[in-house]
Amino acid sequence: MHDQKQSRMRGPGIVLRRAAPDDAPMVSGMFLASFKATYDFPLAHTDEEVRGWIRDDLIPAKETWVAVDGVGAVIGVMALDGDDLAQLYIAPGWTGRGIGSRFVELAKRLRPTGLSLFTFQVNRGARRFYERHGFIVVDENDGLRNEERQPDVRYEWCPEARRA
Ligand SMILES: CC(C)(COP(=O)(O)OP(=O)(O)OC[C@H]1O[C@@H](n2cnc3c(N)ncnc32)[C@H](O)[C@@H]1OP(=O)(O)O)[C@@H](O)C(=O)NCCC(=O)NCCS
Repeated sequence: MHDQKQSRMRGPGIVLRRAAPDDAPMVSGMFLASFKATYDFPLAHTDEEVRGWIRDDLIPAKETWVAVDGVGAVIGVMALDGDDLAQLYIAPGWTGRGIGSRFVELAKRLRPTGLSLFTFQVNRGARRFYERHGFIVVDENDGLRNEERQPDVRYEWCPEARRA
């Protein structure tokens, strides 16, 4: 496979690239803003803990990508952890412009044998989004398996060739 770190997916002024250590503050601010704009329950961790997790684990230890706008601001983040699409957050104000779809297409190219993910059941927009991209529900849970203790749903995407 070609060097993923050099890969650039270009769109109208928005570039998807691998996250670098220096991106951590912007990724953190964007992630916290997106989560808080989406859910009316709190994260299980403080903002400072989230910043530390993104700086010390998400960016250095996971396959994390960012979307950056024309002036270099981080407006989206996607992280793969094995075959899990572990994180996908677009900045408030940048949703609904196809950036999430570009990240999902990238994740499918990077994991052509299949992907799984969790989202919270209450997130109707994300569920519609993932289902439109071919993800199917595998199971639902009352929330005991996530830190926020919110009912969640697990999705999987399998390429057609594997389903047949
Ligand atoms: C869900 C999300 C990743 C989709 O990325 P996106 O760039 O907004 O999506 P696209 O523009 O490629 O596709 C638009 C679709 O996304 C979905 N969507 C979900 N939340 C949305 C939002 N806040 N604004 C716009 N579209 C949203 C809708 O299904 C929409 O389709 P519709 O116009 O037919 O309703 C993004 O909206 C987001 O980060 N939302 C907030 C955080 C979140 O829910 N993350 C997922 C956690 S598992």
